[in-house]
Amino acid sequence: PDATSEKLVELAKRRGYFFQSSGAYGGVGGFYTFGPQGAALKGNVEDAWRDRFAVAEGNMEIDAPTIMPEPVFEASGHLEGFDDMLVECPECGESHRADHVVEDDTEYEDAESLPIPEVEEVIAEYELVCPSCGAGLAGQAVEAFNLMFATNIGPGDSQPGYLRPETAQGIFVEFPRLKEYARNRLPFGVTQIGRAYRNEISPRRSIIRTREFTQAELEYFIDPEENEPALEQVADVEVTLYPASEQNAEDGTEIETTIGAAVDDGTITSPWVAYFLGVAKPWYDAVGVDMDRFRFRQHLSGERAHYAADCWDAESEIDGNWIEMAGFAYRSDYDLSKHAEHSGDRFTIFKQYDEPKTVERATVDPDMSYLGPEFGGDAQAVVQKLEELAARERSAFDGDSVEIDLEGETHEIPVDKTDFSVEEQTEAGEHIVPHVIEPSFGVDRLVYTVLHHAYREDEVAGEERTFLELEPEVAPTFVGVFPLQNDDDLEDEAREIAADLREAGLSVTYDDSGNIGRRYRRQDEVGTPFCVTVDYETLEDEATTVTVRERDTTDQKRLPAAALPETLSAIRAG
Ligand code: GAP
Repeated sequence: PDATSEKLVELAKRRGYFFQSSGAYGGVGGFYTFGPQGAALKGNVEDAWRDRFAVAEGNMEIDAPTIMPEPVFEASGHLEGFDDMLVECPECGESHRADHVVEDDTEYEDAESLPIPEVEEVIAEYELVCPSCGAGLAGQAVEAFNLMFATNIGPGDSQPGYLRPETAQGIFVEFPRLKEYARNRLPFGVTQIGRAYRNEISPRRSIIRTREFTQAELEYFIDPEENEPALEQVADVEVTLYPASEQNAEDGTEIETTIGAAVDDGTITSPWVAYFLGVAKPWYDAVGVDMDRFRFRQHLSGERAHYAADCWDAESEIDGNWIEMAGFAYRSDYDLSKHAEHSGDRFTIFKQYDEPKTVERATVDPDMSYLGPEFGGDAQAVVQKLEELAARERSAFDGDSVEIDLEGETHEIPVDKTDFSVEEQTEAGEHIVPHVIEPSFGVDRLVYTVLHHAYREDEVAGEERTFLELEPEVAPTFVGVFPLQNDDDLEDEAREIAADLREAGLSVTYDDSGNIGRRYRRQDEVGTPFCVTVDYETLEDEATTVTVRERDTTDQKRLPAAALPETLSAIRAG
């Protein structure tokens, strides 16, 4: 990793942002604990996401279990297809993600979309080696490895279950109920913020690729024939796009454009995906992603997940590499259709016609005295077959007899033994399977990006300083309050001010240990936007003024303590 990442990971551990879990037992790859600052930052980012993607958009939020039974993932396709490619080192026995071996060592960019035999060829051709011990990997078999964590529900193994690899399935399986809450009207959206689990072959780069992580997902259900997004609301949002067609061109070509223009010229094919890209970009800006290190990249066709018809990623630049922070996928009716097929439940919405429609229905009333004995009494099955045939192909009844298949046998039914009639019926609407647009955010990768993009080093009064230039909206600690020295009167006053600020809803750290310079440095490293210091002037002064120091400039101002709750709350609110 580059110097910034290395320094950031060290700072994160020292200041309580994040660190590897279960360290007392040696730790295990891919599991991280967010410390006090990290948990607060992550919580603030999640709140900001909820405000924008659930509340402001008028969507519903749910909270589903993280363990789901096997049939869910049989239907969703994860059991069959949620695999990564694995290659095992013949020397040290360590497993690596084959496409990452290829990516890292040869800049063979598009490795994720290669079929297994081609990955094997690339490994052999470039004489790639094991990232752990350096042994040659040529000739090693590459195999598919399913990323889901399996478990058993209840004692024994009669009911297998899986830790969900995406929060999305918890929304899809509840569609038959959720549509009721949406009063059976499209479009509507359902969000969920929660844990997802993937047994990654090679977890990497601290919290960027872990085995347990948090997703914030929105499943937006639409009628593809009728619903249109409010594109005018985001048309002017400026974006940097990296379309798939340019992907493998030398250096690639990024396009600076607007959402509106990108839809008009066909760079983004789905207006719904475009709408959510337009909502997401200013939101990323507001939580502190550096817009000069941010772009949307279109997936290549071979790179898309098994369910996605079109997909764009939000990417951030970290140490010269682009990492995926979110995916915006057009999932079509894939998931709802699969769950309908596998569960037998209704994953449709009844779409009312503007005016009732009159349709012709063919009915067949057969001669039961003939059908009964002929078909072992199962005349009903024959009637059903005849009516299905009539709906499909009425002309089949024009001749002397019709053919039907029953339990693998073909039967000829004389037409004169059936009473065939056509009736007019009025229909109020039809059942349709909604399509889904899915903005899917990784919270951990966003937290990492926000910290990385906020990392600064400068010099203050001849001394080197490290600080995090976090946005006030997400900063885990908003204000530090210090007595200048260890003195009972100063401490009492400082504690009182801290209590007033907490009452105003701000997150406050009270600190009276070490010299004042050290305390400022500590808060700078945590990214605390303001520090308030109580000194002897505070006690003497009738207006009870305090020193307020601003993190980024280190400028100090004297302000009356009584004004702080209101002034600082206004800054926090943005
Ligand atoms: N429901 C769609 C879905 O899960 P995805 O692209 O596989 O799509 C969405 O995941 C986001 O989840 C990614 O953009 C990424 O930010 C995050 N993510 C995926 N795997 C991750 C991992 N192993 N560690 C941390 N974050 C991960």
